[in-house]
Amino acid sequence: MSLPAANLDFDLTDLDNFRDGFPFEAFRALREHDPIHWHEPTANTPDGEGFWVLSRHAQVVEVFKNPGDFSSHTGGDRPYGGTFIADVKTAGLMLNMMDDPRHRRIRGLVNSGFTPRVIGALEPELRRRARAILADVGDEGEIDFVVEVARELPLQAISMLLGVPQEMRGQLCDWIDIGLEYSGRKLGEVSEEAAQANANMIAFAQELIAEKTRNPKDDMLSIVIHARMEDADPPTLSNAEILQFYMLLFAAGTETTRKAIAGGLKALLETPGELERMRAHPELMETAVDEIVRYTTSSVYKRRTVTRDLEFHGKEFRAGEKVTLWEMSANRDDRVFEDPDRFDIARDPNPHVAFGWGVHRCLGANLAKLEIRVMFEELLAAWDEIEITGAPVWTRDNRLFGLKHLPVRFEGRAPVDP
Ligand code: HEM
Repeated sequence: MSLPAANLDFDLTDLDNFRDGFPFEAFRALREHDPIHWHEPTANTPDGEGFWVLSRHAQVVEVFKNPGDFSSHTGGDRPYGGTFIADVKTAGLMLNMMDDPRHRRIRGLVNSGFTPRVIGALEPELRRRARAILADVGDEGEIDFVVEVARELPLQAISMLLGVPQEMRGQLCDWIDIGLEYSGRKLGEVSEEAAQANANMIAFAQELIAEKTRNPKDDMLSIVIHARMEDADPPTLSNAEILQFYMLLFAAGTETTRKAIAGGLKALLETPGELERMRAHPELMETAVDEIVRYTTSSVYKRRTVTRDLEFHGKEFRAGEKVTLWEMSANRDDRVFEDPDRFDIARDPNPHVAFGWGVHRCLGANLAKLEIRVMFEELLAAWDEIEITGAPVWTRDNRLFGLKHLPVRFEGRAPVDP
């Protein structure tokens, strides 16, 4: 079906365009008519610059696989860069906004903590925690599934891995949510409330880092603080790198998986027959988890910066220009996925790019998938009936997009097996 050309001018920097759900139609038009699209600067565009928009699966993957020409740090004579449309000053210090070789060395320090075997060993503890979260849900009435259930398991898990005291997790998560809350501001702007929440997060992190510098424990943050990379210059992480490592992991660990769990439940309940199919066929859980991750794609786009003048499928890219890769759109590309808008828990193969691709592919992918699987298994075991009881509320954000609130009612609680 061909769509009017006007759709190609859709403003991807106007967050109001994401307030009522993801603008899938606009991306369908881009994939069809202008897959390597130049987005002109608008009243909302950070840094007053235009940027490239890649919407098809093939080209998104191509750029992910070429970090030499498409940097996560910066390019041309741009002092900063990073992976958001707006330049950020922490680019070059935060793991996901660094290039190799330093990126590879720092990632190598913690890689072994995220292998399927090591993450798999956490399953009994995550299951115990998931049961406790569900046991805390009241027996009657409606709950906000995002706040009371979906956010809890990822938050508890990342606190465990980083050695953050569990009693602080709620407060820390509230600060992150406020820091990332875009409801009253434009892209690239920082509200007073968000600045205060970030400052609180940093003050807490610095105290935690100081404590682990003095008294290392058996957690990932202690490992990174005390690591020596003999073949690197400098061989230890700077204070700024350690701080950014913590900030990235804590935020990445809590925000995205929460949105996948909540969006996954919504899709499961709204797609006729899928909930019953999942109950009848527990062996489909593995493909179901990947489908939840594809369908929700809670980290929606990434940005890279062009490092040299080059031609890309007939378009001239200049050093220093911003290129955005829209994973949410790539994951709905019918050149790769059959009936891409259908939520299908048996989808196989499912080569989605929701965890990225290549050198920066999500470090927490095994953990996120385990959390989603355990939470859905426990949820289905705990309740006979689950029902959405009101309108969902979406984040007003074009990057960390997903559900902010989802009113849900559970009925028919099964006996708890502690
Ligand atoms: C459904 C949940 C998740 C999604 C959709 C997701 C998505 C992504 C994506 C797309 C990237 C690539 C970034 C880029 O190429 O610029 C990434 C990187 C990363 N993710 Fe995740 N993520 C999820 C869960 C997690 C969790 C639970 C953790 C925490 C342990 C985590 C930690 C990271 C880190 C540290 C990186 C940077 C890796 C690097 O630059 O080498 N993520 N994630």
